[in-house]
Amino acid sequence: MNKIFADNILQGKVAFVTGGGTGITGGVARALAEAGAKIAIASRKIENLEPMKQLIESNGGECFAVAADVRDYAAIENAIARTVERFGKIDIVVNGAAGNFLCKAEELSSNGFGTVVDIDAKGTFNVCRAAFEELKKSKGQILNISATLHYLATPMQIHVSAAKAGVDAITRNLSVEWGGYGIRVNGIAPGPIEDTEGMKRLLPEPLKEKLTRRIPLQRFGRIKDIENAALFLTSDAASYINGVTLVVDGGQWLLGTSFS
Ligand code: HXC
Ligand code: NAP
Repeated sequence: MNKIFADNILQGKVAFVTGGGTGITGGVARALAEAGAKIAIASRKIENLEPMKQLIESNGGECFAVAADVRDYAAIENAIARTVERFGKIDIVVNGAAGNFLCKAEELSSNGFGTVVDIDAKGTFNVCRAAFEELKKSKGQILNISATLHYLATPMQIHVSAAKAGVDAITRNLSVEWGGYGIRVNGIAPGPIEDTEGMKRLLPEPLKEKLTRRIPLQRFGRIKDIENAALFLTSDAASYINGVTLVVDGGQWLLGTSFS
């Protein structure tokens, strides 16, 4: 594939990426490293982080892996502090940690609803809040990974829809409250992205072809599509973009085609 971005557009930057060991946000972590940033990746399980750390390092990048649950504020504060100890600062925060499963609203327990809201929405707030002083110093930025499920309504996804609506509210609120500190806050709302845990959980393989025909661009998204959007939004090319959640879904949500 032809190169899209100039070399080293994030040289000298430090990024803290939750959910950065796997899937979409793993791709984003790797792409930011390839663009020159030093990367800290955080999630609950160190075994989900080590392979990505090794991949980034084998590509010549620097990576620090730290186990932390985004629901645990003290653990996140500690992960941020260790990242600053290691790399000296934080310029970019990417919130990709999330949880999902299919469940009808009438069968979902209160704790099931709350668990997903706690990981996606409260987890995003926790990380932004814990990184604030560092972002203020660096005039840094935040990139929140959202979804499009809540733009209309998606059956069996009430918990995730509420959680991601919360994430979008956090993006808009912080962009307004923290813009004055020079901190930009944006999001990406991926559509259906192939070869991911999210799609495995939401879409039985036999339905993939049927959904593909109902996506205006006639294909599933690729992790690379989200990496490119993330590189654009975190680079200086987006220096006047603040409070936006960029939909990267091939036009899928406009047709109102549910995943489930
Ligand atoms: C109904 C369920 C359930 C299921 C869990 N629960 N799985 N309810 N159907 N399949 C309920 C449990 O019964 C419990 O409620 C509560 O949720 C908490 O469950 P735990 O297993 O204790 O939670 P925890 O260990 O914290 O794990 C969180 C998790 C898990 C979300 C449930 O699946 C996880 O760790 N996921 C991370 C990976 C992931 O989901 N990746 C996909 C992200 S993709 P009770 O009442 O019994 O105590 C994504 C796509 C978005 O977000 C949009 C795509 C288009
Ligand atoms: P994924 O690989 O399962 O990514 C989720 C990540 O979150 C995992 O690395 C997981 O690692 C981490 N995580 C989960 N709970 C956590 C917690 N409590 N604390 C810290 N980390 C936690 O799934 P994905 O499909 O690539 O999704 C990545 C992002 O894209 C998510 O925000 C998702 O909502 C969004 N998205 C995905 C799609 C899609 O088509 N796949 C569509 C729209 C939006 P651990 O298990 O180690 O904690």
